[in-house]
Order: sequence, then C-alpha cells, then structure tokens
Amino acid sequence: MATTDRREALRGARVVLGVSGGIAAYKAVEVCRRLMDAGAHVSPVLTQGATRFVGALTFSALASEPARTSLYDGPEPIPHTRLGQRADLIIVVPATARVLAAYAAGLSSDLLTATLIATRAPVVVCPAMHTEMWEHPSVVDNLATLRRRGVHVVEPEAGRLAGGDAGTGRLAAPDTIVDAAGAVLASRLSLAGVRAVVTAGGTREPIDPVRFIGNRSSGKQGHAVADELAARGAHVVLVTTTDRPAPPGAEVLRVETAAEMQAAVGAQRAGAHVVVMAAAVADFRPKAQAATKIKKGDGVPDVILEATPDILAGLGAAPVAGQLLVGFAAETAGGRDALLAAARRKLASKHVDLVVANDVGQPGVGFSHDTNEVLIVGADGSVTDVALTTKTAVAAAVVDAIAAHLSPPPPHTSKELT
Ligand code: C5P
Repeated sequence: MATTDRREALRGARVVLGVSGGIAAYKAVEVCRRLMDAGAHVSPVLTQGATRFVGALTFSALASEPARTSLYDGPEPIPHTRLGQRADLIIVVPATARVLAAYAAGLSSDLLTATLIATRAPVVVCPAMHTEMWEHPSVVDNLATLRRRGVHVVEPEAGRLAGGDAGTGRLAAPDTIVDAAGAVLASRLSLAGVRAVVTAGGTREPIDPVRFIGNRSSGKQGHAVADELAARGAHVVLVTTTDRPAPPGAEVLRVETAAEMQAAVGAQRAGAHVVVMAAAVADFRPKAQAATKIKKGDGVPDVILEATPDILAGLGAAPVAGQLLVGFAAETAGGRDALLAAARRKLASKHVDLVVANDVGQPGVGFSHDTNEVLIVGADGSVTDVALTTKTAVAAAVVDAIAAHLSPPPPHTSKELT
C-alpha cells in the first residue's frame, strides 16, 4: 500500500491518541502533530503517568480537542463511551506494560483503558519500555492476547533507552506509527462499494400464536460479521431475527421464520457481491400453525413437522456470477478433521464458496457464547484455523477471507453485477 494511500486514509478520521506514562510520552507529541498534518481529528487522552512526563496543555495546543486526563473531572459525565463510540481508530503511544496488562485483562480503571474497552474501532498499540520489561513473560503473554483479539502492534525498535541503557524497547519512529495508523484505516475501508447481505439469529417456527420451535442462536456472530463488513465500508443488508443493534448505515430487515428469511434474502440478493448465511435456520417447522392458542385441556397435541426451505442451498443452486456465497456450519463434530470433512461436504452439497464451521460441542464455542473457534474453509481448498477468541475477532477473520475471495476483479467495478 502506497504511503499516500495510508496518509489519505487519515484525512477526516476521528483518532483517539492515548498516551501512557513512559519517557517516550514526549514522542507522542510528534505523533499528534503528524496525525493533525494528515488531516485527522485527534482527541488526546493522557493517563496520570503520562502527565508526569509531558503536559496535557502541549497536546491541547496541538490537537483537535483539549486533552482529557480523567474519567471523572471533565465536563462530560461518561467521556469514555463517547470517545470510544465515535472513534475510527485508537492509537496508544507509548503503550506501557501497565496499560497493556490492563487492556488485556479488561480493567478500565482510568479514562484511557475505559475508552479502549468501550470501543469497536480498531486499536493500534505502540509499546515502549526497557528490554527487561519488553521480554517479561507477562508482557509477552498480554501482547499475544491482544494480537489474538485483533489489536495491531507497532513493535518497538532496538536502540538507546532511558537511563543510558540500550536494547529493544524504544518506541517506533513517529513516521512508522502514523503510517501504521493510516494502513489500518485504509484496510478498514477496503470494502467500499461492496454490497453484502448477512443473515443472523435463529428462526422461530410457530406452533400456535404463543409457541414456536426455535434454537439457541443468539445472533451475536452474524451481527459481528455485519459490523465488520460495515466497518470496512461495505453496504450491509442485515436480515436478522434479533433486536440486537445493527451497524450504522445498514439496512435492517427483521424476520422471524425461515420462510420470511428466504423471502428477504431472495429479494435482496440481486446486486449483492456477497451473501453470508450466518443465521441458524430451522430445518423443520410445524406443518400447520394453530390459529388460536392450543389449550392444555384439549390434550397433548401431535405437532407434525415438515422440512423448511434450505435458503443457502437454493442460492447455491441458482448462482449469480460474481456473487460469493458464505455458509456457516454448526457441528458437534469431534475433532478438527471431522469438522473439516463436514465443512467440505457442506461446500459441495450447497455449492457455496466459503463455509465457516464450528464445533458447538466444545466449551465456549458457538451458540450464545461471546467467543467462538472456527475453521474457514474455501471451495478453492483454502483452510484458515481461528483459535478460540471473541466473536468480533472471528468476524474479522471471516471478513478477511471474504475480502480475499472477492477479488480480483474489485467487486464494485465488476460488470457482472448491477
Ligand atoms: O445444513 P446446515 O443446516 O448445517 O447448514 C447450515 C448453513 O445453511 C448455514 O449457513 C445456514 O444459514 C444455512 N441454512 C439455510 N436454510 C436452512 C438451513 C440452513 O440457509 N433451512
């Protein structure tokens, strides 16, 4: 990616510049200035430690907004949620061992760490510390945890450190940091012009006006995929059975049954570059729905089931040129090989391009959990293992795979879709 693209991506972006308390805090002033030069809207947040090294006034004078230093003392009652929600990017320069540990542990005891926990924006951390600290197993583990969750790390360099020492741990150069921030933002908008239809949640198939056959799907994974596609600039049509919040700008179609979902997806698929069937669609539904509530006194009813339409298989049977089909497979497989084999069978039987398979029999995996562990399997033979992590990070990996399979040609210039 060209430097100009990276710098261009910063123009107009809302960047929270977190500064924590290390001697390298003075270099964050230069990063602040360069972010401003690139046209970013910069909101500085300093930890108490940072203010020991460099004055908040310095950042206030350079940045788009006054520097904030406290969760409690500013004019806003809940500054961290506003900052976190509105940010396009959070960058922490320097990130001390303490801030990395708090962030990895989810501790939100100051404004900076609270903002880090209160955001869905991408986060770039730029560690700087003495070599002994940089190499300490706690720091190594915390960074591994953060990386696994999708946090970007700009590694420190080797060189002169405070107190006359030398070694690895010196903050990366301001240009490297600003480039990394721009690269993250540029890649975030890489799906501009892409139209995506995403289904989420579990369908409910009515027995009578008050009872239904349902499943344990919470819609978290499907909504996370929709969030990630939208964050990278795609136009998202979200067909969901849940009332979870949708990403800003998405078209939302709320449905209940497999038949309603099929109708919504069928109406929306034309012109979509990708259809992601993350919903847990019922395979069976009551053949007849009682018009009034079935009374206990009338005896135990026989509920006769019939098959629902397989929406994904229907899409696969009538392919649209240039449209990527992504299915999910919730299995109780018993091991990676069995899961992979099940995913490959699904790829072939439903004629889809990617299958995201998980073993819902494993602890912390699949339905209702906030975490997931998946295999992303492509009809082209590609296999990506995503170890147990948040559904947000799984969504990022799924969208990476989608992006890799969408091009070339760039979908928004494709002649085959109108
Ligand atoms: O065959 P199985 O139900 O395991 O396949 C799961 C995939 O198929 C998911 O992507 C799900 O959304 C989709 N599906 C569907 N219509 C159904 C059942 C499943 O589109 N009736």
